[in-house]
Amino acid sequence: MKYTDINFNNKTILITGGAGFIGSNLAFYFQNYYPDAKIIILDSFRNNETFSNGNLKSFGHFKNLLGFKGHVISGDINDKKLLEDLEENYSFDYIFHQAAISDTTVNEQDLMIQTNVNAYEDLLKIAIKHNANVVYASSAATYGDSNRFEVGYESPNNAYGFSKVMMDNITNEYLKKDLNISIVGLKYFNVYGPREFFKNKTSSMVVQFGHQILKGLTPKLFEGSDKILRDFIYIEDVIQANIKACNPKKSGVYNVGTGKARSFEDIVDILQSELNIDKGKEYIKNPFIGSYQFFTQANIEDTQKYLDYKPRYEMEEGIKEYIPEIKRLFKEEVK
Ligand SMILES: NC(=O)c1ccc[n+]([C@@H]2O[C@H](COP(=O)([O-])OP(=O)(O)OC[C@H]3O[C@@H](n4cnc5c(N)ncnc54)[C@H](O)[C@@H]3O)[C@@H](O)[C@H]2O)c1
Repeated sequence: MKYTDINFNNKTILITGGAGFIGSNLAFYFQNYYPDAKIIILDSFRNNETFSNGNLKSFGHFKNLLGFKGHVISGDINDKKLLEDLEENYSFDYIFHQAAISDTTVNEQDLMIQTNVNAYEDLLKIAIKHNANVVYASSAATYGDSNRFEVGYESPNNAYGFSKVMMDNITNEYLKKDLNISIVGLKYFNVYGPREFFKNKTSSMVVQFGHQILKGLTPKLFEGSDKILRDFIYIEDVIQANIKACNPKKSGVYNVGTGKARSFEDIVDILQSELNIDKGKEYIKNPFIGSYQFFTQANIEDTQKYLDYKPRYEMEEGIKEYIPEIKRLFKEEVK
């Protein structure tokens, strides 16, 4: 579905992190609706390198881009020379900045701040020179221990959440200047949907539970899961928010969720009912207590008001639409 009257044909669009989950979905949105848009993807793509938590350093995967007809650049957003080349050789109209260390459990604070915060500011400077509107990914992890999910009440409890607060601070600082561009930060809540599979253990519990159930296993939930509630949002609504953020009534930082908190038990119940398999539920200890969010629910009043954003998917509908892809992945990718 088209979410705006803006004609992106013949516009030059940079998508950083475009080989990842959200970035690749954005790339296909533009390709499908605006075949004459010039889409450039910058992503570091995966190799075998891992962080100290054992997870991959980059989740970008070529399979997220099968069928993509635009340009792909493999490179590191921290590479100043690469950014200079981008500045010189292109003239961007829009920049969607999704590249980041997206793994909330990464311990390397130095690389986290460099990649998520400092590289963002470098990119902003290019956007200002090019007169390109910017939409970047912030996160609900900025709220951490807060019990108020409204911009201004952030309380991050890990380095990742902190890095996203610092991005929002930079944004607010730049917005005080007299700029010709719009800058919108989107605090995504828990996103699920097609093209997240290659995030491995950091993909949503929707696809992970889906595959446990298809394997014939009993889904493993953290103890007290009926009281762990999150705002789970389907990828299509995240794309809507990104597109509407290209033409905001007001630049700034906005929540992107459904406005409704649902439990991890709900996910398992909906999946088992859609898959027509009942394996019951098993409970395990939560190893992340201390840096774990037990409740999130986006206040989306400002997002509705200033971006004209209206979430379209209840969790039941999002999971139902996702089921054929969960089954395909299980057949073709799950080892
Ligand atoms: N998926 C969610 O639920 C969620 C929630 C809140 C915020 N976010 C944010 O949204 C954005 C997109 O997340 P995603 O879920 O698509 O994650 P993802 O890991 O699939 O995508 C991020 C992409 O950035 C690339 N990347 C990482 N480091 C890079 C670097 N140094 N240089 C260039 N590219 C680099 C990765 O290869 C990957 O393809 C991220 O900024 C993430 O922090 C995601």
